Amino acid sequence: MSNDPLLQPYQLKHLTLRNRIIVTSHEPAYPEDGMPKERYRAYTVERAKGGVAMTMTAGSAAVSKDSPPVFNNLLAYKDEIVPWVREMTDAVHEQGAAIMIQLTHLGRRTRWDKGDWLPVVAPSHQREASHRSFPKKMEDWDIARIIKDFADAAERMKAGGMDGVELEAYGHLIDQFTSPLTNELDGPYGGSLDNRMRFCFDVFRAMRERVGDDFILGVRYTADECLPGGTGKDDGIEISRRLRDSGLIDYLNVIRGHIDTDPGLTDVIPIQGMANSPHLDFAGEIRAATNFPTFHAAKIPDVATARHAIAAGKVDMVGMTRAHMTDPHIVRKIIEKREEDIRPCVGANYCLDRIYQGGMAFCIHNAATGREQTMPHAVPKADIRKKVVIVGAGPAGLEAARVCAERGHDVVVFEAANHPGGQIRLTAQSERRREMISIIDWRMGQCEKLGVTFQFNTWADADTIAAENPEVVIIATGGLPHTEVLSRGNELVVSSWDIISGDVKPGTNVLIFDDAGDHAGLQAAEFIAKAGAKVEIMTPDRSFAPEVMAMNLVPYMRSLQILDVTFTVTYRLEAAERSGNQIIAHVGSDYGGVAKQRTVDQIVVNHGTIPLDDLYFELKPGSKNLGEVSYDELISGAPQTVERNPAGSYQLFRIGDAVAARNTHAAIYDALRLAKDI
Ligand SMILES: Cc1cc2nc3c(=O)[nH]c(=O)nc-3n(C[C@H](O)[C@H](O)[C@H](O)COP(=O)(O)O)c2cc1C
Ligand code: SF4
Repeated sequence: MSNDPLLQPYQLKHLTLRNRIIVTSHEPAYPEDGMPKERYRAYTVERAKGGVAMTMTAGSAAVSKDSPPVFNNLLAYKDEIVPWVREMTDAVHEQGAAIMIQLTHLGRRTRWDKGDWLPVVAPSHQREASHRSFPKKMEDWDIARIIKDFADAAERMKAGGMDGVELEAYGHLIDQFTSPLTNELDGPYGGSLDNRMRFCFDVFRAMRERVGDDFILGVRYTADECLPGGTGKDDGIEISRRLRDSGLIDYLNVIRGHIDTDPGLTDVIPIQGMANSPHLDFAGEIRAATNFPTFHAAKIPDVATARHAIAAGKVDMVGMTRAHMTDPHIVRKIIEKREEDIRPCVGANYCLDRIYQGGMAFCIHNAATGREQTMPHAVPKADIRKKVVIVGAGPAGLEAARVCAERGHDVVVFEAANHPGGQIRLTAQSERRREMISIIDWRMGQCEKLGVTFQFNTWADADTIAAENPEVVIIATGGLPHTEVLSRGNELVVSSWDIISGDVKPGTNVLIFDDAGDHAGLQAAEFIAKAGAKVEIMTPDRSFAPEVMAMNLVPYMRSLQILDVTFTVTYRLEAAERSGNQIIAHVGSDYGGVAKQRTVDQIVVNHGTIPLDDLYFELKPGSKNLGEVSYDELISGAPQTVERNPAGSYQLFRIGDAVAARNTHAAIYDALRLAKDI
């Protein structure tokens, strides 16, 4: 038996957990009709197969109709959920993992214009900034109804074969009762701590009566809201002790912070550039103060930190949740002593930000996550070995190279630069986004192991390709900044990349015209403002940087507001004109009737990229498929069979930004989806 602290079993009441790593509850927004159907099951089971001790499903499955789904949550208030849950729990148990589900009532953390359009309820009229609803202050019948709803839902989950239920208290209704900031009720549920915790205990008591003792009940709660007037650390320790002493609960899952605002949520679930394991010591203090089973997750992305968390006795079970979205097979790789093969979570929070924009959670650099029914996490070998030439060593090209090499093909990659990375290398120039380079480093490590040949400093042309005699050519040459967007004066502007790469020195009074609305615009703004310049970001959109999304915006705003960068929305830069050593910016608006001028010494345009596709078009006539892709075959997961030119000698494909400017995930998905069937 291994003596790795992470691989030691853990006895949680009657439940033996096979190691110390869990996936904490999270809602990837995969439910269909509020049910955990095939996609949900496939995603969950993949983590169980990968060796995790326990997977905790459903962030925040709703127990009541007036807790409508904000990010496509499961509807635990419907009886029809039971058979779906049963299929999932059976499949997870078959893999040797335990499975729990998180139940909640969101309280004010939802919207009234969803689901059945019922009023949002909370123990006060205080609005939550993030979801913007002004809640109804709860009445006695709301309280009684919701307590019963929790018990009913817990019973359904037990009937569905779950090993237990966790209550999502933090930021949701239960902690809205506990926190003095959000509870304006009079007794018996408001006022003293005893009264404010009464709702929580009434819920647990009602659930326990229904599910009996041989069922795990836990709570995920904030033990320090980090807000003036809120639950502080001392209160948190007292609350933790009371939870333990209630005898109703089997473990504590510790959160520090508050989630009512985007910055608050980002401190609870930190993104790239923020410190690793920021609340681990705090969780350790709760464990020490309570001597009670303690779980915790918050940016513990690597095995070494997780091992420390267990070895140092900070927690009993360590959560590696996003890490398992990036690589569901972490535990298997630990057991097989292949830790270096673990695909690293880079903290991009593409996964989490998407669910708040109504999308499914996808990992920025694992396109198989959430697509387990069609995309493989481990790519099978092909029957026939082919010669594959790939041009471009950015994320798309490297993913194609990795997957083709896993298939067993003979792979050569040409790259014009002297290093791999493409746009990711530029992104990683920002100290805060340095973790992005692991997307490249991990792929380079895998490609080297698999014997991919790299030719750097090589501008591949048709002759270079022909000399390789390939059967398949994949063009992943990316794009170049597109700045020609003005009616005149295009020659006076520079691109966001010029700034980020250091090729162009920042001016002193700078207008950034950003209608791409992605990271590059904000990154350029930060570089320029840090150099001491006055910066204005202008966009014709209704809001700035719409592609950056909520939690990713937080670190930028923390930096840009201090640097006094200003944001102007709904205005469009139309033209630029030289005036001595200054530039006059002519500004209009899509809404019409506006013509303004600004005088600056530098204009930066952020307008995405245009494909670098010359080589693709040069190679097209010599290809069998004339570059054509069968979308039906691509989507259904069949090999490409288009033949339009019998004289052609290779199949030709193009992926990523070499087709059209998109994002890193799209580039990697393009590559995986094509290359897995080559
Ligand atoms: C897509 C996504 C959805 C999440 N939804 C929930 C949720 O509904 N309830 C919850 O308690 N935590 C939720 N979380 C937070 C995770 O459980 C975990 O605490 C967080 O990701 C930090 O741990 P990590 O750094 O190991 O990922 C979610 C996380 C992700 C990535
Ligand atoms: S999107 Fe980023 S944070 Fe989310 S799982 Fe993937 S690498 Fe980790």
